[in-house]
Amino acid sequence: MKQVFLETFGCQMNVADTDRMELILFHSGYRRTQEKEDADLILVNTCSIREKAEQKTFSLFGGLKPLKTTNPDLILGLTGCMGQQDGEKMLKKMPYLDFVLGPDQVEGIDQAVNRVRESKKPFVWTGFDIEKAYSIPEISGDLPKKPSPSSFVNIIKGCDKFCTFCIVPFTRGREKSREPEELYQEIRHLIDHGAKEIILLGQNVNSYGKRGLKNPIPFHELLYKIAEIPGLERLRFTTSHPNDFTRETIRAYRDLDKLVNHLHLPIQSGNNDILKLMRRDHTVEEYQELIDELKSEVPDISLTTDIIVGFPGETDAQFRDTLKVMERIGYSSSFMFSYSPRPGTPASEFEDSVPLETKSKRLQEIIKLQNRLTQEQVQSYKGKTVEVLIEGGSSKPGYSFKGRNPQYWRVNLKGDEKKFQPGDIVQVNIEKTSGHSLSGLIQ
Ligand code: SAH
Ligand code: SF4
Ligand code: F3S
Repeated sequence: MKQVFLETFGCQMNVADTDRMELILFHSGYRRTQEKEDADLILVNTCSIREKAEQKTFSLFGGLKPLKTTNPDLILGLTGCMGQQDGEKMLKKMPYLDFVLGPDQVEGIDQAVNRVRESKKPFVWTGFDIEKAYSIPEISGDLPKKPSPSSFVNIIKGCDKFCTFCIVPFTRGREKSREPEELYQEIRHLIDHGAKEIILLGQNVNSYGKRGLKNPIPFHELLYKIAEIPGLERLRFTTSHPNDFTRETIRAYRDLDKLVNHLHLPIQSGNNDILKLMRRDHTVEEYQELIDELKSEVPDISLTTDIIVGFPGETDAQFRDTLKVMERIGYSSSFMFSYSPRPGTPASEFEDSVPLETKSKRLQEIIKLQNRLTQEQVQSYKGKTVEVLIEGGSSKPGYSFKGRNPQYWRVNLKGDEKKFQPGDIVQVNIEKTSGHSLSGLIQ
């Protein structure tokens, strides 16, 4: 039996792509190993969203190079967004690579491996498929692993938004949705194998179904349809763009018990001029209106976001607007980034006027504010009972399981390991809170 070592950088779409490669390779006789040294094939699924992500990839490859010297039969592949963006450059920089694939070549991973074995010549295989919709064909037979109680399902790939700072439209191509029937089938399959919660994935899930489908339906209708699938307990989605977030989707939160009360809605900046330069095409006020309407329909909804500080030209006053909006909305958690110029994007041509030191000071400041907001909210759970989907074992000493509540807080649980198991939905008394997580006893 051959062994494959898989490493993933970047977003959940990359995680889903890695899982898909694992499944395809499993059917060509590969088993996943956690030890690089044991591998016959090593794949690194890369991300180019920020410079740091790219640096991490290069340093990982630096460590992999000697393995190739000790085992000349080892096949080494780079896949994902860096591959699409810089395929030939990657091969020049790391001549010990056997192949480079883009995100649209995931389905061809077994062909790529065979081609290297036969020709022994390194190659780059990138580019976007020409189909109008996108499909992930079903593979029947055994699965390499049991699906997680909380499983991802890709519904749309690519992005048409072209925010001025972002590389994704170049690395993932144009938006393409999957046929609804294919989605229902995949979800039913996951549920049959133990999934309880489905997280619908895409760079911009709200523009699902806009074009290219034989049976087009808008995103909110897809939510209603999926919620009807027997055995599904919880439904989530990520990521949303404020401009495509419809009133009908707000209604879906109100109508569908299974659609959990959490929304990740990136704001990026709290200043309208910066939002304009970012080409987000909405104002802070419009974003706030959406949130107000959502909160009036679903009062206990928790909100998370993405924020960039130090965008070219961002003044101190503009940065302070971001702090204000964070405080006003009261995010339960945020992904916070310092702006990183990405070659080929419009913002990389803007004068990057914010010194590195200021960027990092601003980043520290929003992290501090977010920690306070998180602390205030996490503490309010003390003594309360929350519903948790058990996802697996806890790494926290003294706790048996970990899971999440509907609002997406991480919960560590104490309970009888013979009585409960991953996939169970339990009621938990919260006795302690720490950092970003809750902990307590299963009732
Ligand atoms: N599709 C999602 C986000 C995808 S990328 C959306 O539109 O909201 C995830 C996050 O990375 C972005 O929301 C943004 O906050 C951050 N990001 C993207 N490009 C970046 C850059 N050049 N520098 C710093 N952060 C960036
Ligand atoms: Fe990037 Fe903007 Fe598309 Fe999100 S919506 S992936 S930030 S271009
Ligand atoms: Fe990174 Fe590509 Fe995702 S650039 S964030 S892996 S879409």
